[in-house]
Amino acid sequence: MSELSSRQAKKLSDYKAPEFTITDVELSFELSPEATALTAVYQVVSASGKAGTLILDGQELKLLSVSLDGQLLNADSYQVTAEQLILPGMPAKAQLELKIELNPKANTALEGLYLSNGAYCTQCEAEGFRRISYYLDRPDVLARFTTHIIADDNTYPALLSNGNLVSSTLLPDGRRHVTWVDPFPKPSYLFALVAGDFDCLKGSYTTGSGREVALEFYVDKGNKQRAHFALESLKRAMLWDEQSFGLEYDLDVYMVVAVDFFNMGAMENKGLNVFNSKYVLADQSSATDTDFFNIESIIGHEYFHNWTGNRVTCRDWFQLSLKEGLTVFRDQQFSADMGSATLNRIDAVKTIRTAQFAEDAGPMAHPIRPQQVLEMNNFYTVTVYDKGAEVIRMLHTLLGQAGFRKGMDLYFKRHDGQAVTCDDFVSAMQDANGRDLTLFSRWYQQSGTPQLKVHSHYDAKKREFKLLMQQHTAGTADQAEKLPLLLPVRLELLAEGKSYPYLLEMTEAEQEFTFAVSQKPIPVLLADFSAPVKLHYQYQMDELLLIARDAKDGVARWDAIQQLWQMQVIAAIDAKNTGAEYLLPGELLEFYRQLLAKPLEDLAFTAELLTVPGYDMVAEQFDEIPVQDLVWVLQNFQQQLATKLVEQWRLCYKSLHPAAYQYQEQHVAKRALRSVCLQYLAFVVGSDELLRQQYQHSDNMTDQLAVLRSCRTASHPLFAELMADFEQRWNNDVLVLDKWFSLSASYPQSSVFDTLEQLTAHPQFSWQNPNRVRAVFGAFYQQNPQMFHSADGKGYQVLADVVLKMDSINPQVAARLVTPLLSWKRYQAQSQLQLKSVLQTMLAKDLSDDLYEKVSKSLN
Ligand code: TRP
Ligand code: ZN
Repeated sequence: MSELSSRQAKKLSDYKAPEFTITDVELSFELSPEATALTAVYQVVSASGKAGTLILDGQELKLLSVSLDGQLLNADSYQVTAEQLILPGMPAKAQLELKIELNPKANTALEGLYLSNGAYCTQCEAEGFRRISYYLDRPDVLARFTTHIIADDNTYPALLSNGNLVSSTLLPDGRRHVTWVDPFPKPSYLFALVAGDFDCLKGSYTTGSGREVALEFYVDKGNKQRAHFALESLKRAMLWDEQSFGLEYDLDVYMVVAVDFFNMGAMENKGLNVFNSKYVLADQSSATDTDFFNIESIIGHEYFHNWTGNRVTCRDWFQLSLKEGLTVFRDQQFSADMGSATLNRIDAVKTIRTAQFAEDAGPMAHPIRPQQVLEMNNFYTVTVYDKGAEVIRMLHTLLGQAGFRKGMDLYFKRHDGQAVTCDDFVSAMQDANGRDLTLFSRWYQQSGTPQLKVHSHYDAKKREFKLLMQQHTAGTADQAEKLPLLLPVRLELLAEGKSYPYLLEMTEAEQEFTFAVSQKPIPVLLADFSAPVKLHYQYQMDELLLIARDAKDGVARWDAIQQLWQMQVIAAIDAKNTGAEYLLPGELLEFYRQLLAKPLEDLAFTAELLTVPGYDMVAEQFDEIPVQDLVWVLQNFQQQLATKLVEQWRLCYKSLHPAAYQYQEQHVAKRALRSVCLQYLAFVVGSDELLRQQYQHSDNMTDQLAVLRSCRTASHPLFAELMADFEQRWNNDVLVLDKWFSLSASYPQSSVFDTLEQLTAHPQFSWQNPNRVRAVFGAFYQQNPQMFHSADGKGYQVLADVVLKMDSINPQVAARLVTPLLSWKRYQAQSQLQLKSVLQTMLAKDLSDDLYEKVSKSLN
């Protein structure tokens, strides 16, 4: 803790409005890989109208000169530290000019100005602008930006920045000088610059009010054909935001640049989004249905930020969920409207139950509005994003669609052009609906996963059904004391073949709800996962099967099957420990047999029901995770289902004739169900021909990858042969090759340790490219629990070495990769010791703030 404070963690409670602000910024970049010259001119104004000391943020900058109102300053009239430029005696109003030299080529952290395959690009969120220039690098300083870019016209024909292009001149020396002006004042984190030689896919969109917007997608040469889907997705997103929230785009041009070197998914820079190329480029032969889905959703996400994030931005970084939680909620609603609401909701629930509940249970637990931060990049988390979206969704549930919309309208009316807090958002919702949301705001302050325990009682004489509900949140690493929260609990009572819907509002630690019903109902609790809590209720197997058949809510039906599987997991582990054989119950097999004989109308939903929950899903119910038992049990379940229903899988598979590929809801659903059948068939002998056939004859990546994945999961002998073919075929296409990297790293046999070494020696592997590193090591720990947790601790050691290596190249990526090592308390004794020891070794090194914050917390 003492070093944490010496490393200057920031606290929400210490927020102070800035003493100076900057109203106008003029940046001139003369691009050069190792010596880019930047001139930055700021109009600086004191908030109080008084002179004072101006302190600008800056990191790893080569400062050449400082001028104030046209006067060059002596080096002794200002002070430069590792993180600041301090200017005493700053007048109440002045023009400050800085000259700075940058080395984009040496920038492997991919924050600030860097090179991606020879193209210049920037990443400024959260605090990357300070690696470009000294600045008031905080989101509550909003300035109008003018950007000049000067670069060789042949090498860098595209010179882009935020806003509108106002001039472009070819200079006598063959360089071009362009000027961009962004009319909307913005914080520095939304600044962007891109320079390169791209193919450009152009389109246009006419807004509801008749404004024509040019849409431009900049992609690597030769990839233009792969950008069409992203362009169409953008048009759908623009229309959707007009229809759903009355929000239109506000500039003449919307640009998206796809780059290979990128720390995250995408970035919503004003008018100039920068995307990880994997979330832009897709065609049927190189991308899966999931890739297409992700592209549409992330294109939507970044577009929706234009209002929730850019027009109304965050006062400080503790308020990150103000824009991220809300924008995730908006992209989820968009995806739901573009496809199946139920399947989208199931995906969101999976994310919360696996990654988010795990974060709450680990050393990095934090509320959706964190209270203390050392490295802001560490707080772009499933808690801030996805639990944040759940909190917005609860407001939507409590206020209804129309009430929520009224709140959004008021929020924009009050705060357009401002940098605000989560409280401002809740106030808008509250005032627009005349409803007190004080209790609800606890969701912003409290971390941890609430446990909701429910007991029921039916009084046949009084014809009364009672639900006794108790909520409790255990203390978390960051916060010992917890208070009761406002929980919206959707409920269906199933009785007499009917479903009666309710929305309960739980506000106390303990509450009783009474219902008049003429026979004993089955309660469907927490339908639609109406609150991000862990539900405990003693269901019987027949009740769960009934819910799976009769509940109105699709999520609840799916959830009933999940709970059934969780029960089997416990029973099978008990059996394993006593040396008994465990057979899946006949009722469950019968349910599956019927489903396979007569799939539901919704094939994708059928596919979900037929899938045994994943490792991370079942792991989350254990305080101490019996990793190898779980791996064994899940494998065993699949094997049993495969053999017992082999004819059914075959028939169902054969009934789903593949059609020519289209990314279209029914087609996607059919492929999903077919893949599930194939996965089971890979567990039985005699499926080689079928696997080989599908791999060789399908016309799309989804079906080909399904074969490889099935072989991987079942450790099928065909795996090596098909993987070798795949590598050959896609060796020159890194985006596709990443799928091969991931499959190789997730092979659940001890040979994977040699494989990992070969992968990092592969000609297409690069430690500098986060996509490659994540494809290999992300897959290793996420999809290969068996080997990552191998008894000798080798998996931990391998990951720890990679994390340390990455920390000197790209701390942001290193700090994400370290995540699975941090939760050592969740594992069994031997693993705990091994994990603790690698963490201690790590902590003894000279770590980045990113890594230090996480590792030190985990050892507290
Ligand atoms: N604001 C971005 C989004 O959610 C994510 C983001 C934050 C990011 N920091 C980043 C992206 C750094 C890339 C690199 O859409
Ligand atoms: Zn976002």
